[in-house]
Amino acid sequence: MTETFALFAACLPGLEPLLCDELKDLGAAPTAVAGGATFQGDLRLLFTACLQLGTASHVVIRVAGFPCRALGELERKAALLPWSSLLRADVPARVRAVCKRSRIWHSGAAEERLENAIAKGLGRAPRRAEAEDPDAAVIAVRIVDDHVTISLDATTTPLHRRGWRLATAKAPLREDLAHALLLASGWQPGQALLDPFCGAGTIAIEAACVAADLAPGRLRPPPCRHLGLWNERLWQDVLTAARPEPTIDVSHLAASDRDAGAIEDARGNAERAGVAAAIEFRCCAVSAQPWLATPAAAPPNGTLVTNPPFGVRVAGGEQLASLYQSLGHRLQGLGAGWRLAMLAYDVRMARRVGRPLRSAFATRIGGLGIAAMIDAEVTAKGPDPAASV
Ligand SMILES: C[S@@+](CC[C@H](N)C(=O)[O-])C[C@H]1O[C@@H](n2cnc3c(N)ncnc32)[C@H](O)[C@@H]1O
Repeated sequence: MTETFALFAACLPGLEPLLCDELKDLGAAPTAVAGGATFQGDLRLLFTACLQLGTASHVVIRVAGFPCRALGELERKAALLPWSSLLRADVPARVRAVCKRSRIWHSGAAEERLENAIAKGLGRAPRRAEAEDPDAAVIAVRIVDDHVTISLDATTTPLHRRGWRLATAKAPLREDLAHALLLASGWQPGQALLDPFCGAGTIAIEAACVAADLAPGRLRPPPCRHLGLWNERLWQDVLTAARPEPTIDVSHLAASDRDAGAIEDARGNAERAGVAAAIEFRCCAVSAQPWLATPAAAPPNGTLVTNPPFGVRVAGGEQLASLYQSLGHRLQGLGAGWRLAMLAYDVRMARRVGRPLRSAFATRIGGLGIAAMIDAEVTAKGPDPAASV
């Protein structure tokens, strides 16, 4: 019989509803929890989730959960787990413990006891991983209110690192956040999309990949390769099932930035992603972007999806308000067939575009609170009409 695992997909806070929609599309029955979603699934679903999820940053396997009040009890109970089938003898392992409101309060001691338990289960001590070894098996132990949860990370590097965004321009957007903005924007594959502040090209490249049905995780190392659960044949099977349809239309994707270095970075990233031919990159100020400068040259319908300068990491200052006003004015010029979806650090500043916007989701990243602002009437997948910022 196929083994079923308790799984948890982690995401940036605020992205949980979008992540749940993605999981449902994969056939899972997720439950949203703070910072992600829990779901049950076999190894095939775990592999598929790691390959296909665009808004997740990790997928972990919940190995065990039990009440526990003492270090001896932790070691004894953890030693009963099937470590020899979960871990690989040739791969170093790292245990990370967090303790909150529990009788076991010393995370270092909990880590040591878990290592002892794993050594008993494996019949010998696992090789200890260097602190930042990206190929190590990571075992996470959370002890909260005297309840222990032990998890194994199925992914080595975080899922939002797709493998193509090696050039970063000045203020790169995380790929999972770009993916979430696309999902919330109402944009659909085959429709026109414009990012006139494209930087390293993250939004347009992510859109091209969605349009071409290219799985977000296709360029990453396979999940679970570092674990005892690894199954090469199954992974190849999952990859074959995810082969894109050759007929999908990826036209009408345009991205521009006034910074020549950013455009060079974006082109390099698009090439690595295999979608360079699908995106028209141009080095120009927003005012000179061909569709915005000459609306007659633009497709009649489309979505402007962008991460404009916030004036935080990229210099903005006094001119920012007029930049946003000018963006709104030019977008208006494209006609009623065009929609807007933009990330905002300062929502009042975002409203300077002069059209009714609502918050589709709000998140925090790098210490900044960020909202995804979309045209008020868009009811795309994921956005919660009740959310307001
Ligand atoms: C927040 S960054 C965009 C980051 C991008 N989403 C990425 O993933 O790399 C904003 C970008 O807007 C560009 N920019 C600022 N003012 C501009 C203007 N007036 N016209 C065109 N681009 C501009 C900057 O060069 C910068 O690359």
